[in-house]
Amino acid sequence: MDVLAQSPFQGLLTYPLGHSLQQSQQLGLPGVAYFSDEVLEDEMRSWNHTWQMVGRELQVQSSGDYFTYMVGNQPLVIIRTEEGELRAFHNVCPHRGAQLVSEQGNCKQIRCPYHAWRFDLEGNLLGLPQAERFPHLERSTVQLRPARVETWGGFVFVNLATTGESLQAYLAGFSSYLEQYDYAWGDLEMVDSWSYDQPVNWKFLVENYLESYHLSTVHGKSLSCFDPGNIQTATVGRHYQICVGYASQESVKQHQVFAGDPQRQSYQGFIFPNWMVNTARDMVSIFRLMPLSATQTRFEVLIYQTRSQQTAFSYDRDGFRSQFDRVLQEDFNAVRLLQASVHSQAYGVLQFAAGLEDGISHFHRVWREALDSGRND
Ligand code: FES
Ligand SMILES: [Fe+2]
Repeated sequence: MDVLAQSPFQGLLTYPLGHSLQQSQQLGLPGVAYFSDEVLEDEMRSWNHTWQMVGRELQVQSSGDYFTYMVGNQPLVIIRTEEGELRAFHNVCPHRGAQLVSEQGNCKQIRCPYHAWRFDLEGNLLGLPQAERFPHLERSTVQLRPARVETWGGFVFVNLATTGESLQAYLAGFSSYLEQYDYAWGDLEMVDSWSYDQPVNWKFLVENYLESYHLSTVHGKSLSCFDPGNIQTATVGRHYQICVGYASQESVKQHQVFAGDPQRQSYQGFIFPNWMVNTARDMVSIFRLMPLSATQTRFEVLIYQTRSQQTAFSYDRDGFRSQFDRVLQEDFNAVRLLQASVHSQAYGVLQFAAGLEDGISHFHRVWREALDSGRND
């Protein structure tokens, strides 16, 4: 049964059980936004119109290199063609829907493992066994369904909507903000990655990142490399810049995580809908969120260094991970406190701290707009 068809989706965002996402006076989102499967379905539909950061160009350097990625609940494959172009396709066979490829690899052509239909790297059908069994098949029209793919700074982005704004327009001024970083984004190579599955809604993790009010209570010791009095934020399109100053030289020295120079800034921020970037003297770290359910989220940590950073600041995997892990566990513990309350009648936001929690209101505005456009699909 189509749950969405049962719930009135015109105008108001109303969900079963009388929950409504339409709020006049109240700040924040109601608790239902953080546990409802219906809300998550709408969110995932809205993600079909967003540019999603799926990986690095380095992962698909040669003709036939490919990797797979899930945008929300949509499986995709990103592949390099013989002409050296990047293509993205839904990772679904047109014959009967089987998954075509898994993880990553290299291939001369894409061959479905179920009945062996074969496609070239542009997604065109090359051949199929017992073709005489398909007398009415117009072979020249059979193709893998494409998605758009573009790049910035060596990152590969895909958008399931085949028309619409460019990646450049989507990123608005955010790319030029990040380009103030001392190193070229295109030169970054992944040096480490790991992930956490947390029993919280993905939006709480975004909101926690967007506010600096919790720094002194939650990270009193672990993040004292930053000067909480020297944080400038700005909205840029759908995104949110967070430019953070470092604390004293001494305090910086004690922290490998987010290491920097008190004379400089750390360019950080949130790119709607699901990733965050942090620059430091010695590396770039990225957090990327994948909702596994309405109340379960995979939090990925991706660490990048340029070659020159790898030489100057050799990566100490165990030492770094344990420091980073400490900070993140502090955040996860805090966010789980929010998730624990979402069914409470008393759950809500009384006020946001001026200047410290503004990013959350911005995120909620953009989130609502995205849901509205997703519902017009
Ligand atoms: S499902 Fe792919 S060939 Fe049949
Ligand atoms: Fe935090």
